[in-house]
Amino acid sequence: MDACRPILNTGLRGFTVATTRISDVDGAIGKLVYRGYLAKDLADTATFEEVIYLLLYERLPVKKELEELKALLAREADVPESILKSLALSPSDALPMDVLQAAVMMLAQYDPDAKEHSKEAATRMGIRLIAKLPTIVAAWDRIRNGRKPVSPSPDLSLAANFLYMLTGRKPDDEVTGFFDTALILHAEHSFNASTFSARQVASTKAHIYAAVSAAVGSLSGALHGGANTRVMLMLQEIGSVEKVEDYVKRVLESGGVIMGLGHAVYQTDDPRAHILAPMSRKMGERIGDTKWYDLSKHLEKIGKAAFENKKGREIYVNVDFYSASLYYYMGIPVDLFTPVFAIARVVGWSAHVIEEQFAGAAPKPILYRPEAEYIGDYCGPEECSFTPIDQR
Ligand SMILES: CC(C)(COP(=O)(O)OP(=O)(O)OC[C@H]1O[C@@H](n2cnc3c(N)ncnc32)[C@H](O)[C@@H]1OP(=O)(O)O)[C@@H](O)C(=O)NCCC(=O)NCCS
Repeated sequence: MDACRPILNTGLRGFTVATTRISDVDGAIGKLVYRGYLAKDLADTATFEEVIYLLLYERLPVKKELEELKALLAREADVPESILKSLALSPSDALPMDVLQAAVMMLAQYDPDAKEHSKEAATRMGIRLIAKLPTIVAAWDRIRNGRKPVSPSPDLSLAANFLYMLTGRKPDDEVTGFFDTALILHAEHSFNASTFSARQVASTKAHIYAAVSAAVGSLSGALHGGANTRVMLMLQEIGSVEKVEDYVKRVLESGGVIMGLGHAVYQTDDPRAHILAPMSRKMGERIGDTKWYDLSKHLEKIGKAAFENKKGREIYVNVDFYSASLYYYMGIPVDLFTPVFAIARVVGWSAHVIEEQFAGAAPKPILYRPEAEYIGDYCGPEECSFTPIDQR
């Protein structure tokens, strides 16, 4: 091992491992850009379908292209009957992210493009994944509750369709708009853990389903996408504004973490949280119950202050902090929050797999193969001499 090289368990923080044209996160000032556009502007004015087009095809669509994409997504939203039947064989208490990860690999088995290694095939598969993941997540929720899945409706946007397939009722424009915005905000975030998982798998030239399946597994973790479900569980555990201070004190004293606070990149509030928070408040007002929003707001204030008091530095809200109460108000089951994250982030994953495998411009990505420092201190400086089993 080269003595000059730093050997630390850094989680690759601060290491730039590739170039990308897809998005940029400026953690110092809280800026997120998708292919040159501020995510905030896209969230304010674009639709999720426009963002899908932008991320996959590298530019905003004109009207005709957008209509074609919507029609394609509608055509591809159906999931093979045999996959739905397989879902019905899973135990009803299976973790939804496990079900989703398995379903992604089932989709691969039905896709002839999985045998072709080309940008066109990868793009077609990416579109299919984007179209079918909402159907799978909604179908799983109905199946585990003993209900028949609702078929996708071709006249609805992806956001409205998901809520329709989940509940059986078409959402109104305001709820659809909020959910559409949440999907835009979760669609892409540079080299986060799950995207890096997808890119690492893609760098071996495995197909997009293998890469997305790895990404789903990565997203499920509590420190990543799994945090949104845990934020809601935390809010439910706290229960009321009066109990926030005790909860924060207890968690920080025991060395635990307050879910939804902190981020590996942002050194200021996550800009997505500033868009999600007012949507959560408005959704609460709509249904006449702002309890979870109010609780979140108070927890943000107390949690930040207590953290600063203890550590002598600031901590900030991340994307999961307010998406939790927003999704809860929309009637999405708490353990589906992370799969909902996945139905948005699959857009970014797909764009990254395509870039990893088919980037035209140099420098081209190459197979990821880092090194590790072997701590082989089992038998001193020499290798151990093997002892046959009956002499140990
Ligand atoms: C996301 C996360 C892993 C980022 O971590 P990070 O910025 O690299 O910070 P580290 O994990 O290195 O933690 C630095 C210190 O701050 C503490 N810390 C970080 N986030 C914290 C939180 N939410 N609550 C309490 N303490 C926290 C850590 O325990 C650590 O303390 P230590 O120095 O005594 O060991 C971390 O903030 C976290 O666990 N947050 C909660 C889970 C979450 O919301 N995840 C979603 C991320 S989008």
